[in-house]
Amino acid sequence: MPPAINIFPAEVIDYQFFALQILPNKSAAMSDLKSQIIPDKVPRHIAIIMDGNGRWAKQKGMPRVLGHRSGVKSVRDVTEAAAEIGVQYLTLYAFSTENWNRPPAEVTALMTLLVETIKGEIRDLNKNGVRLMAIGDIEALPAASLKALRQGMEDTKNNTRITLVLALNYSAKWEILRAARQLAEQARTGTLLPADINESVFENALSTQGIPDPELLIRTSGETRISNFLLWQIAYAELYFTPVFWPDFGKKELFEAILSYQRRERRFGMTSEQIG
Ligand code: FPP
Repeated sequence: MPPAINIFPAEVIDYQFFALQILPNKSAAMSDLKSQIIPDKVPRHIAIIMDGNGRWAKQKGMPRVLGHRSGVKSVRDVTEAAAEIGVQYLTLYAFSTENWNRPPAEVTALMTLLVETIKGEIRDLNKNGVRLMAIGDIEALPAASLKALRQGMEDTKNNTRITLVLALNYSAKWEILRAARQLAEQARTGTLLPADINESVFENALSTQGIPDPELLIRTSGETRISNFLLWQIAYAELYFTPVFWPDFGKKELFEAILSYQRRERRFGMTSEQIG
């Protein structure tokens, strides 16, 4: 018998896409997607590089800033969707240390948006059990942004359903250098022996201290880079790249990413047989 030819290799077919085409309406398609998610295998922590706001706006003939404004709706939708299915931590790359190099007007607009968004969302964050946290060199943010952020974190600190971690003025190299400096200083003063520096000691010096490593990292907009985001923490994360621009990324797209993650075999250096 001739060998069977698989004309639809798994990596070419997007089954979720087909499901969405044939189902009668969007919400039925959404609940179908959601029902396929295996509750026990939902990632505890998802990290997202929100990219493509500028290109989304340009495509529509709008200023870049409107792309960022539209991105806030995605932040809201994705946070709600993540909470709904039991994700415990969602980390969003909102502003990198490199983003200061953007045109000053765009930096100011992003900082203003941050303040407005935090202030405007606190009530809903509390209603939905969302605790707000931040990682990064937040002390260097403009005073108004820092004030709104601190207030947001204080007002939501007792929420337990999901933790929304905003990476602000963040870069992984900054964080790793800071940790190295801190540990070197402890060694210098004799409170820490260099031989005692292990993974857990190092992790406790990172800004994500106490937060489990992300199992899934998503980047939108078709770029396939990590861009200085959580370099230590994503050592074993599954990477998911989608061409969708961030303002078009919502609940459906998050569920698709999680389903893709759940179809993968995570071996952590072991063999398939050992995983079982
Ligand atoms: C990347 O798109 C996006 C950012 C640098 C900022 C993300 C900010 C938001 C979604 C709004 C504020 C968020 C919060 C949490 C309040 P880009 O501008 O690099 O897009 P491009 O690559 O198409 O130019």
